[in-house]
Amino acid sequence: MAPTNEFENISLDGLPFDLRYKLLSASIIPRPIALVSTIGEAGNVNLAPFSSFMIASVEEGFLCFSVGPDQKRVKDTLVNIRRTEEFVINSVSEPMAVQVQNCAEEYPPHVSEAKEVGFDLIPSLKVAPPRVAMSNLHFECRLHQIIRFGESHMTIGRIVQVHARAGLVRNYKIDPRELAPLGRIAGRNYCQLGNIVKV
Ligand SMILES: Cc1cc2nc3c(=O)[nH]c(=O)nc-3n(C[C@H](O)[C@H](O)[C@H](O)COP(=O)(O)O)c2cc1C
Repeated sequence: MAPTNEFENISLDGLPFDLRYKLLSASIIPRPIALVSTIGEAGNVNLAPFSSFMIASVEEGFLCFSVGPDQKRVKDTLVNIRRTEEFVINSVSEPMAVQVQNCAEEYPPHVSEAKEVGFDLIPSLKVAPPRVAMSNLHFECRLHQIIRFGESHMTIGRIVQVHARAGLVRNYKIDPRELAPLGRIAGRNYCQLGNIVKV
C-alpha cells in the first residue's frame, strides 16, 4: 500500500468478537505456529495448533501461547494442561501445512488428532506428551502459569528439554531455510519464508 498521511480511526469498543478477531489476526502477521501436544484424560494424545505464540522470557526459558474462547467448549489443550501441567511445543514447517490445518478441526476429547491427520509421534524425555516426528524442533515444557485475559488464557511453559533435528543447530545457530517455518496469515492462509532482508 502506498504510504499516505491519511489514516482511518478504528475503535474496538463494542466490536463483536468475530470482527475483533478478523481485524487483529489479520494485523499481526505472519505468526509462527506452536503445534501443542498434550495428554487427554483417556490417555489419548491431543494435538492442536496455536499461532498466538511467542517467547515469554529468554532468560527463564519460557514460551507462551494463548488459548482463545470457543463457543461450545473449553479447548482440550487447556483442559489437558490444567490437569497434567505438561505439554510439548512442536515447530511447524512448510510440508506440515495440510496436517496442521486438519489438527484444528474439532475432534471429540478422546480422539487423537495425530492419528487422524497422520502425524507419527515419538516419546519425549521429561514429559508425558510425545513429540511430532515431522517437526524440526521440540520444546518439552512444564506449566509455569496460566494468565486469564477475558476468555483467553495465556499459557506459559518452562522449557525443560529441547530437541533439534540432527544437523539443524550449528553452534547454537539455525539456518532459517533449513527450519523452513510455516507462518500463519489468517483463516486457511499460510506463508513460507520469503526474501531475507539484511540491513
Ligand atoms: C494455524 C492455526 C493456528 C491457530 N491458532 C490458535 C490460537 O492461537 N489460539 C486458539 O485458541 N486457537 C487457535 N487455533 C484454533 C485451534 O487450533 C482449534 O480451536 C483447535 O480445535 C483446538 O484444539 P483442542 O480442543 O484439541 O485444544 C488455530 C488454528 C490453526 C489452524
